[in-house]
Amino acid sequence: MELRLFVTREIPFPAFESIKGLFQKVDVWPEYRPPTKEELISRAKGAQALVTMLEDKVTCDVIEALSPELRIIAQYAVGFDNIDLECATKHGVYVTNTPDVLTDATADLTWALILAVARRIVESDAYVRSGGWKSSGTAWHPTMMLGFDLVGKTLGIVGGGRIGQAVARRAKGFDMRIIYNSRRRHPEMEALGATYVDLDELFRESDIVTLHVPLTPETQNLVNESRLRLMKRTAIVVNTARGKVVDIDALYRALKEGWIAGAGLDVYPTEPLDPSHPITKLSNVVLTPHIGSATRETRAKMAELVYRNLEAFSRGERPPTLVNE
Ligand code: DGY
Repeated sequence: MELRLFVTREIPFPAFESIKGLFQKVDVWPEYRPPTKEELISRAKGAQALVTMLEDKVTCDVIEALSPELRIIAQYAVGFDNIDLECATKHGVYVTNTPDVLTDATADLTWALILAVARRIVESDAYVRSGGWKSSGTAWHPTMMLGFDLVGKTLGIVGGGRIGQAVARRAKGFDMRIIYNSRRRHPEMEALGATYVDLDELFRESDIVTLHVPLTPETQNLVNESRLRLMKRTAIVVNTARGKVVDIDALYRALKEGWIAGAGLDVYPTEPLDPSHPITKLSNVVLTPHIGSATRETRAKMAELVYRNLEAFSRGERPPTLVNE
Protein backbone atom coordinates (compact mmCIF):
# COMPACT_ATOMS: atom_id res chain seq x y z
CA MET A 1 0.00 0.00 0.00
CA GLU A 2 1.20 3.52 -0.84
CA LEU A 3 1.83 5.38 2.46
CA ARG A 4 0.87 9.04 2.41
CA LEU A 5 1.86 11.84 4.78
CA PHE A 6 0.53 15.37 5.25
CA VAL A 7 2.59 17.88 7.24
CA THR A 8 0.98 21.13 8.37
CA ARG A 9 4.16 23.27 8.28
CA GLU A 10 7.68 23.18 6.81
CA ILE A 11 10.05 21.73 9.42
CA PRO A 12 13.49 22.84 8.19
CA PHE A 13 15.64 20.46 10.24
CA PRO A 14 17.66 17.45 9.05
CA ALA A 15 15.26 14.77 10.38
CA PHE A 16 12.54 16.13 8.12
CA GLU A 17 14.26 14.59 5.09
CA SER A 18 14.25 11.21 6.87
CA ILE A 19 10.56 11.67 7.75
CA LYS A 20 9.74 12.30 4.08
CA GLY A 21 11.75 9.23 3.07
CA LEU A 22 9.39 6.97 5.03
CA PHE A 23 6.43 7.77 2.75
CA GLN A 24 5.67 7.26 -0.94
CA LYS A 25 3.70 10.49 -1.11
CA VAL A 26 4.36 13.58 0.99
CA ASP A 27 2.44 16.84 0.97
CA VAL A 28 3.78 19.77 3.04
CA TRP A 29 1.59 22.80 3.73
CA PRO A 30 3.69 25.57 2.17
CA GLU A 31 2.44 28.63 4.04
CA TYR A 32 3.59 30.28 7.29
CA ARG A 33 -0.01 30.34 8.54
CA PRO A 34 -1.70 27.06 9.47
CA PRO A 35 -4.21 25.43 7.13
CA THR A 36 -7.86 26.10 7.95
CA LYS A 37 -9.99 23.12 8.96
CA GLU A 38 -11.29 22.78 5.40
CA GLU A 39 -7.79 23.04 3.94
CA LEU A 40 -6.51 20.47 6.43
CA ILE A 41 -9.26 18.03 5.53
CA SER A 42 -8.93 18.45 1.79
CA ARG A 43 -5.10 18.28 1.73
CA ALA A 44 -4.85 15.38 4.21
CA LYS A 45 -7.68 13.28 2.73
CA GLY A 46 -6.38 9.78 2.05
CA ALA A 47 -3.19 10.20 4.15
CA GLN A 48 -2.32 7.58 6.76
CA ALA A 49 -0.10 9.98 8.69
CA LEU A 50 -0.32 13.60 9.77
CA VAL A 51 2.35 15.77 11.36
CA THR A 52 0.60 18.53 13.30
CA MET A 53 1.50 21.62 15.32
CA LEU A 54 -0.25 22.86 18.43
CA GLU A 55 -2.17 25.48 16.44
CA ASP A 56 -3.87 22.86 14.24
CA LYS A 57 -7.31 22.06 15.61
CA VAL A 58 -7.57 18.32 15.16
CA THR A 59 -11.16 18.02 16.27
CA CYS A 60 -13.36 14.93 16.02
CA ASP A 61 -14.94 16.10 12.77
CA VAL A 62 -11.45 16.42 11.24
CA ILE A 63 -10.49 12.94 12.46
CA GLU A 64 -13.76 11.49 11.19
CA ALA A 65 -13.37 13.21 7.81
CA LEU A 66 -9.91 11.62 7.49
CA SER A 67 -11.01 8.17 8.65
CA PRO A 68 -10.61 5.31 7.97
CA GLU A 69 -7.31 6.02 6.15
CA LEU A 70 -5.78 8.10 8.95
CA ARG A 71 -3.69 5.92 11.31
CA ILE A 72 -1.30 8.28 13.11
CA ILE A 73 -1.16 11.93 14.19
CA ALA A 74 2.43 12.81 15.09
CA GLN A 75 2.31 16.09 16.99
CA TYR A 76 5.38 18.33 16.76
CA ALA A 77 5.02 19.50 20.40
CA VAL A 78 4.82 17.99 23.86
CA GLY A 79 1.32 19.37 24.49
CA PHE A 80 -1.54 17.85 22.49
CA ASP A 81 -4.63 19.64 23.83
CA ASN A 82 -5.41 20.66 20.22
CA ILE A 83 -6.14 17.02 19.34
CA ASP A 84 -9.34 15.19 20.31
CA LEU A 85 -7.57 12.24 21.90
CA GLU A 86 -10.71 10.34 22.80
CA CYS A 87 -11.98 10.55 19.23
CA ALA A 88 -8.59 9.53 17.80
CA THR A 89 -8.50 6.53 20.12
CA LYS A 90 -12.05 5.58 19.18
CA HIS A 91 -11.06 5.56 15.50
CA GLY A 92 -7.88 3.57 16.15
CA VAL A 93 -5.59 6.53 15.34
CA TYR A 94 -2.25 6.72 17.17
CA VAL A 95 -1.37 10.11 18.67
CA THR A 96 2.28 10.82 19.51
CA ASN A 97 4.05 13.87 20.99
CA THR A 98 7.62 15.09 21.61
CA PRO A 99 8.29 14.91 25.37
CA ASP A 100 11.69 15.33 27.09
CA VAL A 101 13.55 16.96 24.21
CA LEU A 102 12.05 20.40 24.90
CA THR A 103 12.27 20.29 28.68
CA ASP A 104 15.51 22.28 29.02
CA ALA A 105 14.58 24.91 26.44
CA THR A 106 11.24 25.53 28.15
CA ALA A 107 12.86 25.68 31.60
CA ASP A 108 15.43 28.15 30.24
CA LEU A 109 12.70 30.39 28.84
CA THR A 110 10.90 30.23 32.19
CA TRP A 111 14.03 31.55 33.85
CA ALA A 112 14.49 34.18 31.15
CA LEU A 113 10.99 35.46 32.00
CA ILE A 114 11.55 35.27 35.77
CA LEU A 115 14.76 37.30 35.46
CA ALA A 116 13.29 39.69 32.91
CA VAL A 117 10.39 40.53 35.24
CA ALA A 118 12.44 40.55 38.47
CA ARG A 119 15.12 42.83 36.99
CA ARG A 120 12.88 44.86 34.65
CA ILE A 121 14.99 43.97 31.61
CA VAL A 122 12.44 44.91 28.95
CA GLU A 123 11.57 48.23 30.61
CA SER A 124 15.27 48.99 31.02
CA ASP A 125 15.97 48.24 27.37
CA ALA A 126 13.16 50.59 26.32
CA TYR A 127 14.46 53.27 28.72
CA VAL A 128 17.89 53.23 27.05
CA ARG A 129 16.60 53.10 23.45
CA SER A 130 13.88 55.72 23.88
CA GLY A 131 16.27 58.30 25.30
CA GLY A 132 14.59 58.20 28.72
CA TRP A 133 17.92 57.42 30.37
CA LYS A 134 19.78 60.15 28.48
CA SER A 135 17.16 62.78 29.28
CA SER A 136 16.83 61.73 32.94
CA GLY A 137 19.84 63.89 33.79
CA THR A 138 21.78 61.11 35.52
CA ALA A 139 23.62 57.92 34.61
CA TRP A 140 22.98 56.22 37.95
CA HIS A 141 20.52 56.79 40.71
CA PRO A 142 19.80 54.78 43.88
CA THR A 143 16.21 54.22 42.76
CA MET A 144 16.67 53.70 39.01
CA MET A 145 14.87 50.56 37.68
CA LEU A 146 14.69 48.77 41.01
CA GLY A 147 13.80 45.12 40.82
CA PHE A 148 14.00 42.36 43.41
CA ASP A 149 16.49 39.69 44.50
CA LEU A 150 15.92 36.00 43.86
CA VAL A 151 18.28 34.71 46.56
CA GLY A 152 16.36 33.46 49.58
CA LYS A 153 12.97 33.92 47.90
CA THR A 154 10.33 31.21 47.52
CA LEU A 155 9.70 29.70 44.09
CA GLY A 156 6.31 27.98 43.79
CA ILE A 157 6.21 25.43 40.97
CA VAL A 158 2.77 24.24 39.85
CA GLY A 159 3.36 20.86 38.16
CA GLY A 160 5.99 18.38 39.27
CA GLY A 161 6.73 16.79 35.88
CA ARG A 162 9.79 17.03 33.67
CA ILE A 163 9.65 20.78 33.00
CA GLY A 164 8.79 21.64 36.61
CA GLN A 165 11.79 19.57 37.71
CA ALA A 166 14.12 21.31 35.24
CA VAL A 167 12.92 24.68 36.56
CA ALA A 168 13.61 23.47 40.13
CA ARG A 169 17.15 22.33 39.17
CA ARG A 170 17.92 25.82 37.89
CA ALA A 171 16.41 27.40 41.03
CA LYS A 172 19.03 25.68 43.17
CA GLY A 173 21.68 27.82 41.46
CA PHE A 174 19.80 30.92 42.61
CA ASP A 175 19.68 29.72 46.24
CA MET A 176 15.91 29.79 46.45
CA ARG A 177 13.46 27.92 48.63
CA ILE A 178 11.35 25.68 46.39
CA ILE A 179 7.77 24.56 47.02
CA TYR A 180 5.59 22.69 44.54
CA ASN A 181 2.14 21.31 43.94
CA SER A 182 1.14 18.57 41.55
CA ARG A 183 -1.59 15.95 41.16
CA ARG A 184 0.79 13.58 42.95
CA ARG A 185 4.02 13.89 44.88
CA HIS A 186 7.21 13.60 42.80
CA PRO A 187 10.24 12.08 44.56
CA GLU A 188 12.46 13.72 41.89
CA MET A 189 11.17 17.14 43.01
CA GLU A 190 11.73 16.33 46.64
CA ALA A 191 15.26 15.11 45.87
CA LEU A 192 15.88 18.63 44.57
CA GLY A 193 14.82 20.04 47.93
CA ALA A 194 11.29 21.04 46.89
CA THR A 195 8.57 20.79 49.51
CA TYR A 196 5.07 19.62 48.55
CA VAL A 197 2.33 22.06 49.60
CA ASP A 198 -1.34 22.47 48.77
CA LEU A 199 -2.21 24.79 45.93
CA ASP A 200 -3.57 27.67 47.98
CA GLU A 201 -0.56 27.57 50.29
CA LEU A 202 1.69 27.70 47.23
CA PHE A 203 -0.03 30.86 46.02
CA ARG A 204 0.11 32.41 49.50
CA GLU A 205 3.79 31.66 50.15
CA SER A 206 5.49 32.12 46.80
CA ASP A 207 7.42 35.14 45.58
CA ILE A 208 7.32 33.60 42.12
CA VAL A 209 4.58 31.24 40.92
CA THR A 210 5.55 29.35 37.77
CA LEU A 211 3.17 27.06 35.87
CA HIS A 212 4.15 23.69 34.36
CA VAL A 213 0.91 21.74 33.97
CA PRO A 214 -0.85 20.54 30.82
CA LEU A 215 -4.20 22.08 29.90
CA THR A 216 -6.98 19.83 31.21
CA PRO A 217 -10.47 20.55 32.59
CA GLU A 218 -8.85 20.56 36.07
CA THR A 219 -6.10 23.07 35.20
CA GLN A 220 -8.21 25.46 33.10
CA ASN A 221 -8.26 28.85 34.91
CA LEU A 222 -6.27 27.39 37.80
CA VAL A 223 -4.87 30.91 38.20
CA ASN A 224 -8.09 32.81 38.82
CA GLU A 225 -9.14 35.86 40.82
CA SER A 226 -9.33 34.06 44.16
CA ARG A 227 -5.85 32.52 43.78
CA LEU A 228 -4.35 35.81 42.59
CA ARG A 229 -5.83 37.48 45.65
CA LEU A 230 -3.98 34.97 47.86
CA MET A 231 -0.62 36.08 46.46
CA LYS A 232 1.80 38.57 48.00
CA ARG A 233 1.61 42.05 46.50
CA THR A 234 5.32 41.72 45.70
CA ALA A 235 4.98 38.36 43.89
CA ILE A 236 5.00 37.52 40.19
CA VAL A 237 3.39 34.84 37.98
CA VAL A 238 5.14 33.16 35.05
CA ASN A 239 3.33 31.02 32.48
CA THR A 240 5.18 28.97 29.86
CA ALA A 241 2.59 26.13 29.98
CA ARG A 242 -0.77 26.81 28.34
CA GLY A 243 -2.62 30.13 28.15
CA LYS A 244 -5.95 28.84 29.40
CA VAL A 245 -4.39 27.80 32.72
CA VAL A 246 -4.61 31.52 33.61
CA ASP A 247 -7.74 33.67 33.61
CA ILE A 248 -6.11 36.52 31.71
CA ASP A 249 -8.79 39.06 32.62
CA ALA A 250 -8.29 38.37 36.33
CA LEU A 251 -4.52 38.54 35.81
CA TYR A 252 -4.88 41.89 34.04
CA ARG A 253 -6.83 43.30 37.00
CA ALA A 254 -4.31 41.86 39.46
CA LEU A 255 -1.46 43.57 37.62
CA LYS A 256 -3.29 46.82 37.04
CA GLU A 257 -4.64 47.14 40.58
CA GLY A 258 -1.43 45.95 42.27
CA TRP A 259 -2.66 42.70 43.86
CA ILE A 260 0.61 41.28 42.50
CA ALA A 261 3.80 42.90 41.18
CA GLY A 262 4.35 41.42 37.73
CA ALA A 263 4.00 38.61 35.21
CA GLY A 264 5.93 36.88 32.47
CA LEU A 265 3.80 35.21 29.82
CA ASP A 266 4.73 33.04 26.86
CA VAL A 267 1.25 31.60 26.27
CA TYR A 268 -2.24 33.10 26.06
CA PRO A 269 -5.86 31.85 26.02
CA THR A 270 -6.09 33.01 22.38
CA GLU A 271 -2.95 32.98 20.28
CA PRO A 272 -1.61 35.11 18.72
CA LEU A 273 -2.47 37.60 21.50
CA ASP A 274 -4.40 40.59 20.16
CA PRO A 275 -1.97 43.53 20.45
CA SER A 276 -4.87 45.72 21.59
CA HIS A 277 -5.42 43.51 24.67
CA PRO A 278 -5.06 45.82 27.71
CA ILE A 279 -2.39 43.56 29.23
CA THR A 280 -0.01 44.69 26.47
CA LYS A 281 -0.17 48.23 27.87
CA LEU A 282 1.23 47.29 31.28
CA SER A 283 4.91 47.82 32.00
CA ASN A 284 5.07 45.16 34.74
CA VAL A 285 4.49 42.32 32.25
CA VAL A 286 6.94 40.67 29.87
CA LEU A 287 5.31 38.98 26.87
CA THR A 288 6.83 36.47 24.46
CA PRO A 289 5.12 34.72 21.50
CA HIS A 290 4.94 31.04 22.59
CA ILE A 291 8.67 30.38 22.17
CA GLY A 292 9.21 27.84 24.98
CA SER A 293 10.77 25.25 22.68
CA ALA A 294 12.14 27.74 20.13
CA THR A 295 15.84 26.90 19.95
CA ARG A 296 17.48 25.43 16.87
CA GLU A 297 18.75 22.42 18.81
CA THR A 298 15.40 21.65 20.45
CA ARG A 299 13.33 22.01 17.30
CA ALA A 300 15.78 19.68 15.53
CA LYS A 301 15.40 17.11 18.33
CA MET A 302 11.62 17.42 18.18
CA ALA A 303 11.81 16.57 14.45
CA GLU A 304 13.97 13.53 15.28
CA LEU A 305 11.36 12.31 17.73
CA VAL A 306 8.59 12.75 15.16
CA TYR A 307 10.79 10.69 12.81
CA ARG A 308 11.22 7.92 15.41
CA ASN A 309 7.47 7.76 15.94
CA LEU A 310 6.67 7.63 12.23
CA GLU A 311 9.46 5.16 11.56
CA ALA A 312 8.08 2.74 14.18
CA PHE A 313 4.60 3.23 12.73
CA SER A 314 5.84 2.51 9.19
CA ARG A 315 7.29 -0.79 10.44
CA GLY A 316 4.01 -1.70 12.12
CA GLU A 317 5.45 -1.15 15.61
CA ARG A 318 4.24 0.86 18.60
CA PRO A 319 5.55 4.45 18.34
CA PRO A 320 7.90 5.26 21.25
CA THR A 321 6.04 8.33 22.54
CA LEU A 322 2.46 7.24 22.03
CA VAL A 323 -0.06 9.16 24.15
CA ASN A 324 -3.06 6.91 23.50
CA GLU A 325 -3.52 3.18 23.15
C1 DGY B 1 4.71 22.26 23.36
O1 DGY B 1 5.52 21.51 22.78
O2 DGY B 1 3.65 21.88 23.82
C2 DGY B 1 5.13 23.69 23.44
O3 DGY B 1 4.14 24.51 23.93
C3 DGY B 1 5.64 24.13 22.10
O4 DGY B 1 6.52 25.19 22.24
